[in-house]
Amino acid sequence: MYTSKEIQEQKNYINKVKKLNNKKLKYSILTMGCQLNENDSEKICGMLEEMNYIPSNDFEDADIVIFNTCCVRENAEDKLFGKLGELKKIKETKGIIIAIGGCMMQEKHITQKLHESYPFVDIIFGTHTLHKFPEDLYKALIENKKIDDILDIDGKIYEGLPIKRSSNFQAQVTIMNGCNNFCSYCIVPYVRGRERSRDPEDIINEIKQLAKDGYKEVTLLGQNVNSYLRVEMEEIKNGKRKDTGKYDKINSFAKLLREINKIDGIERIRFVSPHPKDFTDDVIEAIRDCDKICKLIHLPLQSGSTNMLKIMNRKYTKEQYLDLVKKMKKEIPNLVLSTDIIVGFAGETDEDFEDTLDVVRQVKFEQVYMFIYSRRVGTPGDKMKNQIPEEIKHKRFDKLKALVESQIQENNQKYVGTIQKVLVEGPSKNNKDMLTGRTDSNKVVVFEGKQDLIQKIIDLKIVSEHMWYLKGKIINEG
Ligand code: 5AD
Ligand code: SF4
Repeated sequence: MYTSKEIQEQKNYINKVKKLNNKKLKYSILTMGCQLNENDSEKICGMLEEMNYIPSNDFEDADIVIFNTCCVRENAEDKLFGKLGELKKIKETKGIIIAIGGCMMQEKHITQKLHESYPFVDIIFGTHTLHKFPEDLYKALIENKKIDDILDIDGKIYEGLPIKRSSNFQAQVTIMNGCNNFCSYCIVPYVRGRERSRDPEDIINEIKQLAKDGYKEVTLLGQNVNSYLRVEMEEIKNGKRKDTGKYDKINSFAKLLREINKIDGIERIRFVSPHPKDFTDDVIEAIRDCDKICKLIHLPLQSGSTNMLKIMNRKYTKEQYLDLVKKMKKEIPNLVLSTDIIVGFAGETDEDFEDTLDVVRQVKFEQVYMFIYSRRVGTPGDKMKNQIPEEIKHKRFDKLKALVESQIQENNQKYVGTIQKVLVEGPSKNNKDMLTGRTDSNKVVVFEGKQDLIQKIIDLKIVSEHMWYLKGKIINEG
């Protein structure tokens, strides 16, 4: 792996902070939002631990508090400002460092609000400057000044940052950053910049190392995973990028999947999120052919109405989505799907909403992540005149939720009596005497078993269903 000059420089800052901290100090981190943010937080934790910090679950007890923010929906903003209110008192009594990073920091109206109303925040960093966290922290510690480290241009992809993973058998691996799609409701392209993919070699090496370290499951992350390397390949084609040969073997998402499937030790491969418009046949065939790829595919629908999909700039129709589902189900035996749906986007009529319900009824998703449309400053959706009243949004949401829950219950019953391969994750949260794990289709299964089964894939017979989890009995300990 190539370690850039910039990362080398940050490693020097890591050593400098380490020298300042001659005793172990504590950090507390709050991560909001998606798995990409979780993966970024794992990198922040990795850097902090190399700088002599140890984790603490308690803000009151910490020497540094970090918020890794999300701005996809409004509720994260309320959460951040609420938490900052709480922290103010701690900051006043005890000189802790407060650092805020992530997507929300790429929004000018948010950083302005922070400067005006929360001047006690020490470090503000954006999505393109995460790798510079050691330098920002050093400067905040030594120079005792406020650090504002935000870049508006798309950041590079940096390899070689330390990482402290939250699990020792399930890993998240970011394969690309940014998004070029500009769905009209979504803030992500404005805060994460344009699509850029990691080099295949770096991804493969990272996963090979994970396998050596005992990891069983990898989840590949990106805002639009099935356009992995597309921009790069187009640039090579039109002469904007030199062909150095590094994409000779792997030049697409399908080929990346096939290569990861060959890595010994890795037993499950998941990925989020693909875009339906980019779900090419080669990806469908790779999922079909690769035994380690879980046959639960997340396929964000957003709306079932062709009219709304056009306004949302999704670039597919209701029929095209349904045809894609049909094709995928035909090609891939035992395929199940999960999805994201937004209700109450600007202009959504009762008929449009009925179309969404219709698709849900037809596809029978395994899992549906439902969101009430949240206006985001700077997106086309926010400027639309025909916003839907909150009351109607909530009524539609409740109707969709009721349909989804009735389908889940019906679907759960299909599991009862079947034998499922389950990756055992650990003791159940609600009952420490029981274990919990997940099926290939990501269903939670709770069962009785010994602790030494943790991290193994075992066969369980499903004996009953309970809405959000299944109960199982051990058949074969793998
Ligand atoms: N309001 C509500 N939900 C949104 N999402 C993205 N932007 C918004 C918004 N402004 C949802 C989409 C996306 C998921 C990650 O979040 O469904 O797939
Ligand atoms: Fe947002 Fe659409 Fe990009 Fe997903 S594909 S991150 S919803 S703009």
